[in-house]
Amino acid sequence: MNDENYPVVKKSIPTFYFIGVTTGKSSIMKVFPLWMKVLGLEDVVMEGVDCKIHDVPEVYRKAVAQIKYDPLSLGALVTTHKIDLLTAARDMFDYLDPYAMITDEVSSISKLEDRLEGHAKDPITSGASLDAIIEKDYFGKTHGDVLCFGAGGSAIATLLHLINKKDKGDRPDKFTFVNRSQGRLDHAMEMVRGLKTDIEIEYICNSDPEINDKIMEQFPPYSIIINATGMGKDTPGSPLTWAGKFPMNSVSWEFNYRGELDFLHQSLAQVESRKVKVEDGWLYFVHGWTQVVAQVLHFDLTPALFDKLNEVASSVKGV
Ligand SMILES: NC(=O)c1ccc[n+]([C@@H]2O[C@H](COP(=O)([O-])OP(=O)(O)OC[C@H]3O[C@@H](n4cnc5c(N)ncnc54)[C@H](OP(=O)(O)O)[C@@H]3O)[C@@H](O)[C@H]2O)c1
Repeated sequence: MNDENYPVVKKSIPTFYFIGVTTGKSSIMKVFPLWMKVLGLEDVVMEGVDCKIHDVPEVYRKAVAQIKYDPLSLGALVTTHKIDLLTAARDMFDYLDPYAMITDEVSSISKLEDRLEGHAKDPITSGASLDAIIEKDYFGKTHGDVLCFGAGGSAIATLLHLINKKDKGDRPDKFTFVNRSQGRLDHAMEMVRGLKTDIEIEYICNSDPEINDKIMEQFPPYSIIINATGMGKDTPGSPLTWAGKFPMNSVSWEFNYRGELDFLHQSLAQVESRKVKVEDGWLYFVHGWTQVVAQVLHFDLTPALFDKLNEVASSVKGV
């Protein structure tokens, strides 16, 4: 029992949790055992914890208590609930890394000696994925902007990555968030207020797909259009309608790689007509998971080891 009397299960085998929405459907369930083999840690098992979107604080506190108070509960990767979980359980952490402090979210829960640690890995992992999608000096060369549907943890992390780019050509002139509710926009605004940036940031509260189409159509060619809403995986549909026109030569980046992926299919339909380059969230998935697994299991994620883990993961993609 812990100080709040949450019922902690004493695990008999080392357990790594995945706190998400539909965790059983994630490729990580197939990938994780393969990675443990590569790492020589076959005794570590993965357990999914499915929470509702914007679940009640007790659900998040119970999940954190399990890791904090059970010795063989090693840590967790958190998706979708990164902000809500930290809001509910901030006082249970002994350490938060600088990105977690700036973004008010955690995607990694780990333990170091007696400390429960929270890290926000998304600025690193969404950033590593974006760097693989666009070349150096992309914004300097193309003058594209960024339009991001959703202003949750992963969307904010992507902006943070761009703000931190040293060279002007690697930063867009403008980054626009469109979010369903005002709360997340206020949260993003609050984060940006504490940072120095020359990127113009626009905050639009909207969930009407027809209005989103009109917003997107005003973006310049080569812009990056992101679906960070979870629509098409966590919830049905897309933030756009099928009539929405992607900017010419734009990059359409769907953060997910599984589900109905309506947004991805909408952009795939414009590959020929509007020269849209389409990316899904697979590389983001591999970067995200390898970073957190390394943090929880305490190993050095060298580029060679990343390549090996990526190769093993790709062998079961879509299987
Ligand atoms: N490939 C990967 O490894 C990877 C990594 C990170 C994230 N993702 C995926 O990316 C998605 C977002 O992740 P997250 O952590 O940022 O989740 P999140 O914190 O829940 O953010 C989602 C945001 O989208 C907003 N939203 C929902 N429907 C909308 C709509 N129709 N129009 C505009 N905004 C809308 C939500 O608004 P409200 O505030 O109103 O709810 C919320 O702020 C998830 O599906 C996640 O699985 C994938």
